[in-house]
Amino acid sequence: MSNFAGAIIAWQKQHGRHDLPWQNMVDPYAIWVSEIMLQQTQVAAVIGYYANFMQRFPTIAALANASQEDVLQSWSGLGYYSRARNLHNAAQKIVDDFGGAFPTQFVDILSLPGIGRSTAAAISTFALNAPQPILDGNVKRVFARHFNIAGYTGAPKIAQKLWQIAERENPKADAIAYTQGLMDLGATLCARTKPKCAACPVNAGCAAYKLGLVSSLPTPKPRKTLLEKSTTMLVIINNHEVLLEKRPQTGIWAGLWSLPEIEMHEIATEIAQSRLGLEVESGEPFPIVNHAFTHFKLAITPQPLHVIKQTPRVMQSKCIWMPLDEAISAAIATPIRTILNQLKISQINTL
Ligand code: ADE
Repeated sequence: MSNFAGAIIAWQKQHGRHDLPWQNMVDPYAIWVSEIMLQQTQVAAVIGYYANFMQRFPTIAALANASQEDVLQSWSGLGYYSRARNLHNAAQKIVDDFGGAFPTQFVDILSLPGIGRSTAAAISTFALNAPQPILDGNVKRVFARHFNIAGYTGAPKIAQKLWQIAERENPKADAIAYTQGLMDLGATLCARTKPKCAACPVNAGCAAYKLGLVSSLPTPKPRKTLLEKSTTMLVIINNHEVLLEKRPQTGIWAGLWSLPEIEMHEIATEIAQSRLGLEVESGEPFPIVNHAFTHFKLAITPQPLHVIKQTPRVMQSKCIWMPLDEAISAAIATPIRTILNQLKISQINTL
């Protein structure tokens, strides 16, 4: 075993995390759900969602039989919703193709929607007693620093070097402690900003520490300026109900409930009439809500509209009226929840 792996294992046993809700168990389903939630999301944000999700969908069969609506509702607020759709689709695939039991072969795990090499490796290591090297975002940072690998870690050539390191360092014994140790080190000491190098168990062999490169490694992603988009969303209010529209199954917030959107040149009251058959009166726009996606920023102007008269037959099937409190806890994205909370506050203030 390398000095690196040995030091990580010893450190994990003494200083690592041992009581996370998905540790000390071998149920591959429960571990799979945790690994998907932990993609791009920190432990502290995941814990509450995880307990709720596992209670609601305790088994692969329960998840496979659930509606997409229910699954998305459990994910609402956690972001990156394709993770939830993939998890749901993968559960159905496990029922169809693997008799309902989580697959044990690495290639079969990799074939499931939403599971890449590192996630498959984490599940295999933690749940199936078949260790494989991992390389998630935190571990890329640990390796890039320790072994002085410059260049954007998402570039194929750099990723290939990092995977070679991951394979070389992966120990034959104590793989669970090693894998958890890498994750723990990346999340706690070897943080992106203000790393705690003095406390690091592998600082003696760390190239970046020795060469003063800790703050410049890993090399940041070459920045393209993020495209900025703006949109107006209609907050249509009828008594205590608000009009929600289902997003298409592709694109941002796919399958979630949202608010009807209009183009910049369109007039809200006219669209409400022509598209929804609603005679409405405009209120003062709410404050702009900004949201950053991976590839662009979105500035949303929420336009409240109060219904005066409704022609029911014009309503489209993808739209529904929902009581405001119910809408706030439905399968919606965070910025939509922000807007609906603004609406709730404005209603309380006008009471
Ligand atoms: N991040 C990804 N997987 C993790 C795990 N099993 N424990 C803690 N953080 C993680």
